[in-house]
Amino acid sequence: MCGIVGYIGDGNATEIIIDGLKKLEYRGYDSSGIAVYEDHKILVEKVKGRIANLEEKIKDKKFTSHVGIGHTRWATHGAPSDVNSHPHSNMDNSIAVVHNGIIENYIELKEWLIKNHNIVFRSETDTEVIAHLISVFYEDDLTDAVYKAVEKMRGAYAIGVVSANEPDKIVAVRRDAPLIAGLGDGCNFIASDIPALLKHVRKIYLIENNETVVLTKNDVKIYNADREEVKRDVFNVTWDADAAEKEGYDHFMLKEIHEQPKGISETLNRRLDEDGMIKLDGIKLSKNDLEKFNKVYIVACGTAYHAGLVGKFIIEKLAKIPVEVDVASEFRYRDPFVDENTLFIAISQSGETLDTLAALREAKSKGARILSVVNVVGSSVARESDDVFYTWAGPEIAVASTKAYTTQLVCMYLIALYMAKTKEIIEKELYDKYIEELKEIPEKLNTILNKEQDIYEMAKDLYKREQVFFIGRGPDAGVSYEGSLKLKEISYINSFAIAAGELKHGTIALIEQGTLVIALATQDKLFEKMLSNIQEVKARGAYVIGLAKENNKDIETQSDRVIYIPQCMDEVSPLLSVVPLQILAYYISKLRGCDIDKPKNLAKSVTVE
Ligand code: F6R
Repeated sequence: MCGIVGYIGDGNATEIIIDGLKKLEYRGYDSSGIAVYEDHKILVEKVKGRIANLEEKIKDKKFTSHVGIGHTRWATHGAPSDVNSHPHSNMDNSIAVVHNGIIENYIELKEWLIKNHNIVFRSETDTEVIAHLISVFYEDDLTDAVYKAVEKMRGAYAIGVVSANEPDKIVAVRRDAPLIAGLGDGCNFIASDIPALLKHVRKIYLIENNETVVLTKNDVKIYNADREEVKRDVFNVTWDADAAEKEGYDHFMLKEIHEQPKGISETLNRRLDEDGMIKLDGIKLSKNDLEKFNKVYIVACGTAYHAGLVGKFIIEKLAKIPVEVDVASEFRYRDPFVDENTLFIAISQSGETLDTLAALREAKSKGARILSVVNVVGSSVARESDDVFYTWAGPEIAVASTKAYTTQLVCMYLIALYMAKTKEIIEKELYDKYIEELKEIPEKLNTILNKEQDIYEMAKDLYKREQVFFIGRGPDAGVSYEGSLKLKEISYINSFAIAAGELKHGTIALIEQGTLVIALATQDKLFEKMLSNIQEVKARGAYVIGLAKENNKDIETQSDRVIYIPQCMDEVSPLLSVVPLQILAYYISKLRGCDIDKPKNLAKSVTVE
């Protein structure tokens, strides 16, 4: 949700910042801009649209500045437009601000600035308030003015500020939105996320909430809310820059779909010892703890929420404990029954989703133990949890989540198995069977990925449809939701998922001649029931694509087309069945000419409520 980059050093600030912004475009991409110190002034260039538009706009300007800030936007206040793009400046253009997040009391601040300081606003954004506030408080110290401005601001945000009066520094603040500082040799950086800086630095500081960071060319100092300097350990980034590049694939989404066998292996290998026992390495979940918990709450958003639906199924089945799954944006507003006997599991790829973070804090305040399943090391969700179960998916850049989902599922299986084993309620043979099945998933996934061309051919027949239904039972219902979300978010097809048995209670009214129904029937125990559900929609004219395990050939008698996945235990099939749906969504979207990695209206990391 918006990306910010700042640079100070001897290099060309404009080039470095624009390069960094391109790596953050996944966070928002409806407009972009930079502010650089050039000829004793702060020059701002900004434009609606992609970063390519900004590059085009400034290509003949020959900026040579050594300090500046940049922004790529996902609009919250004010539609995408040149004037609403960041950076925003004060009245005499001596101060420029980039901002990720929301200033909740901006209307009140705006009125105060207009009434008491005759400020004339140029944009509809909340961000512009920040530039004017800093300006009003500025005497001769930018850091002091930023502190005073921040005291007046409510909300969740990260900001970066430059001033023509102090061109030797960048001041940045973090409050509930991600911010890192990159430590270079004779140069320093700020950014919303690591990929923006990987080309230049490996050493970073993870800035904490309510901290202010002051960067000069040779120094980075971090201060707390009381203006005291704080020491921070350097975080060394170990993953290589290529992990955040497309490596020959047309899109990050396709690359990330193909990275799933590796992500799953990594996630398993980090947690399994040679005997197939689950290692918690630092996670504190003793037998006593597990016996104390009388409920598990899984809370997440979007795709991560869908991983939670499968998590509920497997934890209840194996660990014999009631599990509630909730979307994070609803959880905190309905007085959930959470106390010190609750294990609260937050699932989040980015670890920065504000809804999830807020739900986590709510649960924590009620005494729950917080275990998070997170992909980004050092992210807010990870830092605020009692324990973290990392997914080892590697950086996920495409807005549509794929490898994060399958690695989140792996964590759900491991958590369920660990709980069952520790509580001594699972037979050794069954435990071993699960571990064996999980270990076989990467290889089985490769056989599905090898069928990519067949799925592409199928997509050619389907891409003009305007309505699709996904149906399934048991864990297949959870995967249906994910398949449907994948399709709608990148192809803009109106797609809808429903538990197959629920269709007849209303939604079946929408099935008519030619309606496309994708029916997941991977559960042996529910296979015949699914065949009946397929018959119900066929009888009303639906065109059905069945998805089943390769031995369940009867699916062919009821479906117009079939996608097979390799044989596996019913319980682990979500790890396989989602992948053809991801590939199908990818190719349908490609054939429709959509911008797959950057779908309209979306952003990768949703740091607003
Ligand atoms: C969909 C997608 C989103 C995210 C959701 C939560 O493809 O990616 O639905 O899953 O915004 O994001 P995280 O997992 O970062 O908390």
